Amino acid sequence: MGKVLIAPSLLAADFLHLEEAARLVNDHADIFHLDVMDGTFVPNISFGFPVVEALRPVAKKPMDVHLMIVHPEKYIERFAKAGASMISFHEEAAEADGSDPAEILRSIRSFGVSPGLVVNPDIPAEKLFPYLELCDFVLIMSVFAGFGGQKFIESSYEKIRAVRKEILRRGLDVKIEVDGGVGPSNAAALADAGAEILVAGSSVFKAADPAAAVAALRGQSCEQV
Ligand code: DX5
Ligand code: ZN
Repeated sequence: MGKVLIAPSLLAADFLHLEEAARLVNDHADIFHLDVMDGTFVPNISFGFPVVEALRPVAKKPMDVHLMIVHPEKYIERFAKAGASMISFHEEAAEADGSDPAEILRSIRSFGVSPGLVVNPDIPAEKLFPYLELCDFVLIMSVFAGFGGQKFIESSYEKIRAVRKEILRRGLDVKIEVDGGVGPSNAAALADAGAEILVAGSSVFKAADPAAAVAALRGQSCEQV
């Protein structure tokens, strides 16, 4: 299994104790995954700028803002200023809005932030292909965006492999991130398929020992934490 980056999703953390969640990422994980939902693109509302801003002074690892919102282009600058190092938005949201994903990806980069494009499980991998040159990463949803704690969709492996193949064919440097239902039982197989960033909410924050859960996602035992 290749080296993977572990990105705990703070959506599954105890919101009264976000500082503890931040410490877990700072000490044991690689990336803060922050899920922003608007109640329109997805049937759920999570959090927005204040939470990202509050984490900024404590976050020693990059903050990865996953936008599950309509009109993502309107909010890129504010999330960049709130401290995001990575920002992704859904290809299907841009398409429904009539906006050009390429322009939004360029706008994200113009703020010095790594751009990423996301697709839900029902969107074919090929929808990502025209934009790969503009992406630092692509995010493949392995559940439908909107809620934590859902069951991993098995067809995600095939999609990861298809995207990996295309990235290699074109000789690009684009990381593959996978999000939804990721845990110790599928982490190694996901990495084998080509995933390089594993987002994990429930399997980390609902675990009795979240630090050990992060280690397990890397394929290490508790003793190696
Ligand atoms: C779902 C979010 C995920 C979520 C993952 O819409 O994008 O990041 O927090 O949660 P788990 O790991 O519990 O499936
Ligand atoms: Zn997410």
